[in-house]
Amino acid sequence: MAFPEGFVEEVRRAADIVRVISDHVPLKKMGSSWKGLCPFHEEKTPSFNVRQEPAVFHCFGCGEGGDVFKFLMLREKMSFPEALETLARQFGVPVPEGRFEPGPDRREREALLALLEEAATHFTRTLQTAPGQVAREYLLGRGFASETLERIRAGAARDSWDDLLGALRGRYSATALEKAGLALPRKSGEGHYDRFRNRAVFPILNEGGKVVAFGARSLDGSEPKYLNSPESPVYHKGRVLYGLSWAKDAIRREKRVVLMEGYLDVARALECGVEEAVATCGTALTPSHGRLLRRFAETICVNFDQDEAGQRAARKSLEVLLGEGLRVRVVELPEGHDPDSFLKAEGGEAYRRRLAEAPEALEWLMRQAEQAHDVGTPEGKARFLAALLPALVRVESPVERSAWLTRAVERGGLDEAAAREELRRALGGRGTGGAGVAEAARRAPAPRKARALMPAERWLLALLVTGADGTDEALAELRESDIDGLRAEPLLRAAKALWRREKPVTMASLAGEVDDDDARRLLSEIAVEGVPREGLSATECVKEIQRQPLKARMAEVQKRLQGAKGESLEALLNEKTRLVREIAGL
Ligand code: UTP
Ligand code: MN
Repeated sequence: MAFPEGFVEEVRRAADIVRVISDHVPLKKMGSSWKGLCPFHEEKTPSFNVRQEPAVFHCFGCGEGGDVFKFLMLREKMSFPEALETLARQFGVPVPEGRFEPGPDRREREALLALLEEAATHFTRTLQTAPGQVAREYLLGRGFASETLERIRAGAARDSWDDLLGALRGRYSATALEKAGLALPRKSGEGHYDRFRNRAVFPILNEGGKVVAFGARSLDGSEPKYLNSPESPVYHKGRVLYGLSWAKDAIRREKRVVLMEGYLDVARALECGVEEAVATCGTALTPSHGRLLRRFAETICVNFDQDEAGQRAARKSLEVLLGEGLRVRVVELPEGHDPDSFLKAEGGEAYRRRLAEAPEALEWLMRQAEQAHDVGTPEGKARFLAALLPALVRVESPVERSAWLTRAVERGGLDEAAAREELRRALGGRGTGGAGVAEAARRAPAPRKARALMPAERWLLALLVTGADGTDEALAELRESDIDGLRAEPLLRAAKALWRREKPVTMASLAGEVDDDDARRLLSEIAVEGVPREGLSATECVKEIQRQPLKARMAEVQKRLQGAKGESLEALLNEKTRLVREIAGL
């Protein structure tokens, strides 16, 4: 391995698994462990568990589990060294110099990020100097404070075909700029030209605060109004939300996200003290966006422009968000407003009141549908219900879904049985069948259970991974023959082997010692459940494991004793005496 042995252990000790996983999955404390919805398979009720001591996660639904490194490897598709380095940096463990050779992809991404950062710096400098005058006057003229412009790192692209190319020349090739979406190849033959010209430029940061793209507004009414960076190895529109890097803390504090349409809506919100605002970057909201948001809050307040396009986008978005299991509200503003114009006119206080009054998604939809369709007519009734169905089928809880339907039936004067039938059909189309069957089918298959795990096996392993007293002694007494055929055979064999080599038996060393997935799953499952406060000691567990086959044999002897005579009776009685003695001797 390319890194010193002690380093891995140090990082493992320093990394707080609950904090790491909380960044990806909302967790609730339940007793001595934390629970949440598994990020590795679809589920509606939490079976994903995280425990601090030993540091382990395990999902009882899909069987995925392991330590903090494994989590990042699965979740972020990192290699082990990447997970190790990420956690070392996050938790302040000094990373040994020169130990890490980033792979080609990673090197390319880092070079792109460095280039984008320099471009952002160049654009902000332009905004503050003569060539950025038009952009500066435009932004200040819209009433943005200079501090806000600084916070969002607003910049300007000069009215030139090669300003950025020139500024970065020598350090970055034109092809690198092209890859970053900042330059385009000239249509006629050789050379490149700047993508962003004569525009106010807003850097788009990823969740970690790195510049990954730009959105640029025209200053002279030219089309398009906003020109955006194309996708690149560091920028996937469907997974990035404008403003998230600085909104994170406020989102956690307010326990909600306000989702807007425009860069400048978010900027205005920030200026008015509504810091939990983010926006998509000129693209429709995707399920990935939804999952990204779900890591930070459960409630999303959707606030799109109060025009036809904005309202259509809002309807689409709330379907996506409901589908990701989020609670959704829709913020209503006066006709013709967008968050920017409303905040500018009425201020943060008034806006917060709108947030507080925001109706739940289905309530909002119902109001819209009531206005759009005449529920006094049979056709209007059908249209009214049809407008609600796409959102209704995405409501997670069957009880809640049914309650909304009841309300729709009342408001639309619908026939209840017929409306329920429509809902059932719509649910069928979604593939949930309404019942738990389809839900179960979507879940990953449960891990194979070869034979039942004895409580004593479970207990012994739990004691081993929590580093309880007396485990050395217990492993000394555990014989290879005792382990034969047990459910936890590979794990107990690994423990015994480690003990024999005088290596510490821990969650990590055990996981490293076994090579089948089933055994690893069992290990994380046992570790995440923890040790009951009172119970057997490790040596008592071993005794119980040894007693088990004797007891089984005893039951067999008892059965055969009935009706036995002569020599066989005598043999059986002798065996019984021996067994009684052996069991008592343990
Ligand atoms: P809007 O047209 O509502 O712009 O588009 P806005 O945010 O209100 O802009 P201002 O206030 O006139 O400056 C909302 C968002 O849609 C994307 C951008 O992300 C924009 O912020 N968009 C819009 C584009 O990507 N391209 C466009 O041409 C227009
Ligand atoms: Mn707008």
